Amino acid sequence: MILVTGGAGFIGSNFVLEYAALHPGAAIVNLDKLTYAGNFSNLESLRNYPKHHFVHGDICDATLVDQLLAQYQPEAIVHFAAESHVDRSIHTPGDFLQTNIVGSFTLLQCATRYWNSLDEGRRTNFRFLHVSTDEVFGSLSRDAPAFTETHPYEPNSPYSASKAASDHLARAWHHTYGLPVLTTNCSNNYGPYQFPEKLIPLVITHALEGRPLPIYGDGQQVRDWLYVSDHCDAIRVVLARGHLGETYNIGGNAEMTNLAVVEQICTMLDELRPKADGSSYRSQISFVRDRPGHDRRYAMNIEKAKRSLGWQPRESFESGIRKTILWYLEHAQWLSQVRSGEYLQWLQTHYRP
Ligand code: NAD
Ligand code: DAU
Repeated sequence: MILVTGGAGFIGSNFVLEYAALHPGAAIVNLDKLTYAGNFSNLESLRNYPKHHFVHGDICDATLVDQLLAQYQPEAIVHFAAESHVDRSIHTPGDFLQTNIVGSFTLLQCATRYWNSLDEGRRTNFRFLHVSTDEVFGSLSRDAPAFTETHPYEPNSPYSASKAASDHLARAWHHTYGLPVLTTNCSNNYGPYQFPEKLIPLVITHALEGRPLPIYGDGQQVRDWLYVSDHCDAIRVVLARGHLGETYNIGGNAEMTNLAVVEQICTMLDELRPKADGSSYRSQISFVRDRPGHDRRYAMNIEKAKRSLGWQPRESFESGIRKTILWYLEHAQWLSQVRSGEYLQWLQTHYRP
């Protein structure tokens, strides 16, 4: 029995679907507020999986979380729930502080109460896995070595500052109260079910609709890309074998500039869904105003996870992006469903000329 928070979002739903497939019979309580980023339809294939208990609720609601822990008695909490989009954090930082900081605090408090109520054996086996990001480390210059787990925290956006705060809370709840916490800091994910506000699904959908492909600034910012299923695998490995109180960097060994990512998507779409007029999707690339405070480069040193846990990514960017594009081409209905009025409003506000 595990309690997952944010399991209707992009990574959370991939994790829940894989967990149910790999551990048939495992019970999963899935607590999600269903914000604009949470889509119950991501979990459609679990409709007939009786051990998936979906709870529509907020991680900031301590009464609800206490009640769920008492009722379901999970052996682990895997905490994905967050406001996750950097651009939105610039427009509405308050939501990020509330969910990412107050919500994580609430969850840690409830988890500690619950953990203290368990008998010795169950206390020993319990885990709280906090899912975090590479963005807490700040920005790297072009030739600087990749982030290690001991890199100083230098968050630059309201999103990364709120995630950094939650990482510090998780660390403190382990150090002070002994809660068996594990933390993962991961680079940029991509794959099925990612909400089309993020770079890769946004570019795929805009390309297919003949719209401009917006590249912030000069497009030379560098990110490390990890296929989502590799991230889910890493989380399962850390849950099973991670050392209590430790943090683990997770990444894809795939550093690329944003421009190179977009060009690769265009090339693959030219092959998989050629345009009627024979032109390349590259002709839709459009350089737009930069993101304020835009971090120049992230890169992850994943030696610790490799060495001490035996985890490493399986997909290359080439193989992962092909799978991703094919998934979006085959799931037009999912896309139209998640692109609600709220989404269209966001596009208008954020990408207005
Ligand atoms: P997402 O935005 O797709 O999903 C977040 C989910 O959390 C949604 O289902 C949403 O409804 C839910 N949620 C939001 N506020 C909530 C609340 N108060 N109570 C309960 N549920 C709430 O995010 P994602 O991309 O799947 O990211 C998941 C986690 O992984 C986040 O913690 C994020 O910081 C981290 N992360 C993401 C990436 C990435 O590239 N996407 C990389 C590294 C780490
Ligand atoms: O690094 C991990 C982080 O990756 C996660 O913690 C975040 O939750 C996740 O959203 C992601 O953050 P980014 O800001 O890196 O992802 P995003 O897809 O928004 O942007 C990727 C890069 O592409 C970034 O440098 C900004 C740029 N970009 C993004 C959008 C949406 C563009 O150039 N144009 C765009 O329209």
